[in-house]
Amino acid sequence: MARDLGQQARKKIDNILATVLKDVKPTEAEMESATAYSNELMGRLKKVVPKDVEIISVGSVARGTQLRGSSDIDIFLLFPRGVAEASMERKGLEFAKRIVKRPEKYTIKYAEHPYLMITSNRSGLKADIVPAFKITDSSQRVTAVDRTQLHNVFVNQNLTRKQKDDVILLKAFLKSHNIYGAGARVEGFSGYLCELLIHHYGSFVDTISGFARAQPPMIISPSEKKEYNAKSCEGALLLKRFERKLIVLDPTDGNRNVAAVVTEESLARFTLISNMFLSNPSIDIFYGAGYSDIYSKRKLERIKKEMDLNMHVLYFKVPDIAEDIIWQQIRKLKNALESSLHKYGYTPALALENVGRKEAVIALFISSSHQGYSLVEGPSVFMHKSAERFIQAHSIELGTILRGDRINFMEQPKYKNPKQALEAALGQREILPSHIQRKYIKIYVNDVPESVAKLVYSEFTRKTTI
Ligand code: CTP
Ligand code: MG
Repeated sequence: MARDLGQQARKKIDNILATVLKDVKPTEAEMESATAYSNELMGRLKKVVPKDVEIISVGSVARGTQLRGSSDIDIFLLFPRGVAEASMERKGLEFAKRIVKRPEKYTIKYAEHPYLMITSNRSGLKADIVPAFKITDSSQRVTAVDRTQLHNVFVNQNLTRKQKDDVILLKAFLKSHNIYGAGARVEGFSGYLCELLIHHYGSFVDTISGFARAQPPMIISPSEKKEYNAKSCEGALLLKRFERKLIVLDPTDGNRNVAAVVTEESLARFTLISNMFLSNPSIDIFYGAGYSDIYSKRKLERIKKEMDLNMHVLYFKVPDIAEDIIWQQIRKLKNALESSLHKYGYTPALALENVGRKEAVIALFISSSHQGYSLVEGPSVFMHKSAERFIQAHSIELGTILRGDRINFMEQPKYKNPKQALEAALGQREILPSHIQRKYIKIYVNDVPESVAKLVYSEFTRKTTI
């Protein structure tokens, strides 16, 4: 399907995708810690559940299709179908609660039926423990989540490792443009739908090429790798049954449209971004501009590079006081730092501040080219007395220049780099507002964690978008 793309365009796209994949695929360490925690929980469950209850790991972590930083574990407890539904639910929760070890925390969540979410204190990983019935075919299904075990088998049997990486790319692409996820807020493409699309089209590029030229209604049967014409007899029947612009039949259950929640707008957006990316492939378009605040780190890096700036970020937890006061104090500190830096010869090209729920940032973008000296502007030569005093006071500096009638001195910068200048500025007590203490401020230079980047980037876009 990507045959329309020239060889050169294809190569360019492949390079972009390889770069993106490095950013969005979980690191080895993340995958290992998710697997280890999942195995540990399954081991604990094994000790408390009867032999006829099967324990399986499902969802994107079990399939290796999760995005970096979203390694949420899904473990299912599969009860034999003879058990009553109410008893399966009650026992499932009971078993799950029994394996929680302090200081892990748990919450009871409700989908069609209740399940337990455990949060690990160590890694911050989350694990859902979901009771369901053991089935081998969707016709045996009792609850909606019973299908999940079949999805696992289908994906693991039909997708290669390369295709799983393409699933990760597709999730990242959709997420960047706010159409990933089947929840009520997004009404977009679920993880399982992404997996089915990659299987059907073969690859990321083929999937977006398919959607770039979409002519809804689209009726896709991934298990047959077939698209039905809406005007054909079978197509018309499916259209009538599901009444959606995008129909993707579940290979494990022909009665289900996996794309049921995808709105017309989500579908249209997917077509739009696919066309944009294919006609002008770039990392910028892949990640999108202002739609979403994810991958902020990547976006900031791009901005820094284009503007040849170094980014200095002060990060601190904010005390529990009125938000207005925090904002006032942060702003005051930012202004004071800006003028100190200016004095020290490192004038920020851009300075911004932002306050999150429990933390705040001040970001200072400073030219990466070293200034070498700073100019000290003095009085006019014709203000004889002051001029004389000024010359005396600066006699040991690098040199004098006249700019018009005013005497200027070139002064050796006092601090070797902006970070040192910042630290010196922060060392002055009077610069710090009452609720901000030096010891709680962390300074990052260029390399900031994603959560910090989010605060900086969202304010950056707010400031720079007209
Ligand atoms: N599932 C489903 N229908 C839903 C939600 C979930 O069939 N409405 C099944 C899918 O098989 C899915 C699994 O439950 O793969 C786990 O759900 P979830 O964690 O929401 O999705 P993941 O596929 O794990 O994707 P993500 O990477 O976003 O977690
Ligand atoms: Mg999941």
